[in-house]
Amino acid sequence: MADSTHVVLTDSDNAKTSSLPVLRGSLGTPALDIGKLYKDTGYFTYDPGFVSTASCRSAITYIDGDEGVLLYRGYPIEQLAEKSSFLEVAYLLMNGELPSKAQFASFEHEVTHHTMMHEAFRTFLYGFRHDAHPMAMLTGMLGSLASFYHNELDLEDPEQRRLAAIRLIAKVPTIAAACYRYSIGWPIRYPRNNLEYTTRFLHMMKEVPSEPLNLPPIASKAMDLLFILHADHEQNASTSTVRLVGSTGANPYVSVAAGVAALWGPAHGGANEAVLKMLAEIGDVKNVQSAVDRAKNKESGFRLMGFGHRVYKNFDPRARIIREMTHKVLGELGVDDPLLEVAMRLEEAALKDDYFVQRKLYPNVDFYSGIIYKALGIPTEMFTVMFAIARTAGWVAHWLEQQNDPENKIGRPRQIYTGATPRDYVAFDARG
Ligand code: CMC
Repeated sequence: MADSTHVVLTDSDNAKTSSLPVLRGSLGTPALDIGKLYKDTGYFTYDPGFVSTASCRSAITYIDGDEGVLLYRGYPIEQLAEKSSFLEVAYLLMNGELPSKAQFASFEHEVTHHTMMHEAFRTFLYGFRHDAHPMAMLTGMLGSLASFYHNELDLEDPEQRRLAAIRLIAKVPTIAAACYRYSIGWPIRYPRNNLEYTTRFLHMMKEVPSEPLNLPPIASKAMDLLFILHADHEQNASTSTVRLVGSTGANPYVSVAAGVAALWGPAHGGANEAVLKMLAEIGDVKNVQSAVDRAKNKESGFRLMGFGHRVYKNFDPRARIIREMTHKVLGELGVDDPLLEVAMRLEEAALKDDYFVQRKLYPNVDFYSGIIYKALGIPTEMFTVMFAIARTAGWVAHWLEQQNDPENKIGRPRQIYTGATPRDYVAFDARG
């Protein structure tokens, strides 16, 4: 099987065969090319949730879920987390190589000088209810970028595509911070270009006009690390959404806005917010075991948020890195948070419980990220927004890759129809 170039399927009803070419990448599981299957056999394939389906070829990110490996453009996440910065990682994801000093300086300059929002954005923002969830606002605001830049965007021009990607990376923190400030009634703060990306975002979010912000250095460092860890994760639900929308030729702003919407769900990026809510509900270490028992009972409908992953069935390498940073942040800021104690006891209880061990359910990146955000004074409803800022780098990298992909075609899955068979319309009056 390892060396086969084709896999032959035989229909047991009529002994008809179909030869499926085996496709191999530079690493990882080979795939069967079923592009001609329907034509050859009259069958579709059925794979809810795309558990066994590769949707594209991509050279951006590699995951080995069994071994707990995550590579961005070939570089192990552990090395990037230790030695790189979020902006450098964004460059790497977009361009495929680490930047030279001059390339990085030019990229940083461009990102820094595209951070402003059009003033009309403010009017748009003020149309939201004051208590709107920041993810709802971010989805709408990013989609509305299309109304500012769509007409001048020629998707056939690689330079314009690149510029759109830069604009998204540059503006998403400004917009995210504005959404937050609006939701708490603070005046919007303009980006300060003398600060680097992550620190600039924290200032835009937290600084009040009346006094300077004293940001502990660990805050920017932890935030930058979280942004690196969240920057990309191959064909996850939100990235696949960006690609699906992008496959129709829609512009990158609405494609990324669709990605933000997909990210919001608690099974995806919304899990970091859900983790904190769950920890608060558990409330005390004495309730940890009953929470674990409830998660094991399918009828309860309750899952341990921040546990399990579609791809990582051994451990989530990002969770390992972030766990260490969680302790550093709490130690350095002197935070004594009882929820952390609940989190640690929950982790311990789940890791030695047969139900979780057998199903390979380990803490994922979102289990810890929420605790760090909380320690940094970031409100719970902004947690998924943080994820969205970081993932924008991955989304635009995938969108750019897709635009150059000769195999790109509109994403259009098929279905197994289970509805009514043909029947005649019954006149309204005859229906009683
Ligand atoms: N708590 C309790 N049971 C669970 C959990 C959990 N968190 N996750 C999975 N299971 C059980 C599930 O009930 C099933 O049991 P059984 O085999 O007896 O039917 C088994 O484990 C496999 O679950 P699945 O739903 O088939 O797995 P999946 O690959 O479709 O789902 C997941 C992956 C991440 C959606 C799921 O593990 C989950 O809902 N986790 C909680 C939400 C979460 O933390 N999401 C963040 C994911 S990481 C960040 C990101 O990528 O966005």
